[in-house]
Amino acid sequence: MVIAIDGPAGVGKSTVARLLASRLGYLYLDTGALYRAVAWKMLHSNVKPTDLERVAQLLPTTSIQMQFQNGAMNVLVDDHDITSELRTPDVTAAASIVSAIPAVREWLLPVQRQIGQRGSVVAEGRDIGTKVFPSAPLKFFLDADATVRAERRHRELVAAGHSGSMEKTSEDLSGRDTRDRNRAIAPLVPATDARHIDTSSLNIEQVVAQMMAAVSAAS
Ligand code: DC
Repeated sequence: MVIAIDGPAGVGKSTVARLLASRLGYLYLDTGALYRAVAWKMLHSNVKPTDLERVAQLLPTTSIQMQFQNGAMNVLVDDHDITSELRTPDVTAAASIVSAIPAVREWLLPVQRQIGQRGSVVAEGRDIGTKVFPSAPLKFFLDADATVRAERRHRELVAAGHSGSMEKTSEDLSGRDTRDRNRAIAPLVPATDARHIDTSSLNIEQVVAQMMAAVSAAS
């Protein structure tokens, strides 16, 4: 059983996916971390994320591994654990760009599907229900008002010790939204069979409760 969770940045996907996975005893697959890992590799190899050719050239010599421990997912690039470096503003911006490159998406597809084969996985991202696991029996599409999402993301960044104004966070988020929704390959769209949850005025517990109810009804 794979549970697919998609939605835009700042909607609370990671938190609810991690909680849902932990309550069900499932593996939590954070697919955004894989795009971030590719972005990290490009930044550390002095390859511009906009340089399609060089990005594609570097992929076959890159190794990405995931380690699942205590409900968390750690990412190793070329055998180095880079998990703690994946959420910096530089990596976030580069991930948004490399994730629109078809060669990157194709390269990461089997990596994600291999984890799905283990079964009992909660996977979250942008194209999980539409492309990565289109036959997942349970799919959720989370959305929320853009201002609410920007406020949430800003709080996260401040808590992680990053500086920067709310306006900048809001601008970055809106740029990522536009790229995610309008890219030619696997754009962010709800799967036709996804259950929609608007998290604008819901807390984490309320979202997870709605998902748990859907899981119970489906099993
Ligand atoms: O969910 P996140 O913010 O960690 O994702 C990082 C970037 O990767 C984001 O810009 C969108 C992209 N992404 C994607 O295109 N497809 C996915 N399945 C997951 C993330």
